[in-house]
Amino acid sequence: MRQPLIAGNWKMNGSKSSAESLLNGVVSGARGLSKTDVAVCVPYPYLYLGESLLAGSSVRLGAQNLCTEAGGAFTGEVSGSMLADFGCGYVICGHSERREYYGENEASIAQKMVRAVESGLTPILCVGETLQQREAGETESVIGTQIDGIIERIGIDAFDGIEIAYEPVWAIGTGMTATPEQAQAVHAFIRGRIAALKGPIAEKLRILYGGSMKPGNAAELLGQPDIDGGLIGGASLSADDFLAICQAGEQLAA
Ligand code: PGA
Repeated sequence: MRQPLIAGNWKMNGSKSSAESLLNGVVSGARGLSKTDVAVCVPYPYLYLGESLLAGSSVRLGAQNLCTEAGGAFTGEVSGSMLADFGCGYVICGHSERREYYGENEASIAQKMVRAVESGLTPILCVGETLQQREAGETESVIGTQIDGIIERIGIDAFDGIEIAYEPVWAIGTGMTATPEQAQAVHAFIRGRIAALKGPIAEKLRILYGGSMKPGNAAELLGQPDIDGGLIGGASLSADDFLAICQAGEQLAA
C-alpha cells in the first residue's frame, strides 16, 4: 500500500498572521500522525515563515509554482533552487488555475517539472477535465493527452518519484466533489496509462484527488484503491478541517 499524502494548497490566501497560526495549528495537530505524509503549499511570501515554523516537524513545505528557467533576468519569477533554499520539498506544477489564467501548457509544465527535479523538489503534477469535457465524454482523452504531453517531453522515467493530482476542474472550489467511483475510475485510468509504459513506476506512483475534498467526504475518497491522498484547497485554510482530512488518511493507512 502507498502511504497517503495530504497536501494543502493555500492558493493566494492569507496574511502573515493567519499563515502563522495556520502553520502552528497544522504542526501541532500533525504530531500524532505516523502513516500519512503531510505538506502545505504556501504563497511565496510565507515560505520563510513556513521554513521556520515547520522546522523539526514532519510537515513538509511546498510551493504552488516555479519558473521554467533556472535563474537570471526573469523579473517577477521564482526559481526551483530558491524554493529548495527555503526548505521546500514539493512544488505544484500545472494546476488548472495556472493553465487557465496564465497560459500554462504541457511544454511549460514539463519544463517546470524538470527544473523542480533538478532543484531536489518533488513535483505535484495536476491534471483534470472541465465539466464541458466530462459531459462530452472526453474525460479520458483529455487526461490522457495531458499525461502523454509530459511523457513525450521528459520521458516516462521522470514520473518515478513524482506525485500526480487528479483535479476535475468542475470540482475545484465549487463544493461539487467527484463521487468516489468517478474519481477512482480516472485514477485507475491514469495509473493504467503509466503502467502501460513502466509497471513499477505506476505501482508506486501516488495519485492524489483534489476538488472540494473535505472532512465529510475524505474517508470515502481516500478509501478507493487508486486514491493515494488529497490536494486540498479551501479546506486547507482551516487547521481543524485539514487535520481531519489527514486523520482520515491515517486511519485508512493503519
Ligand atoms: P478545493 O481546491 O479543495 O478548494 O476544491 C483544490 C485545488 O485546487 O487544489
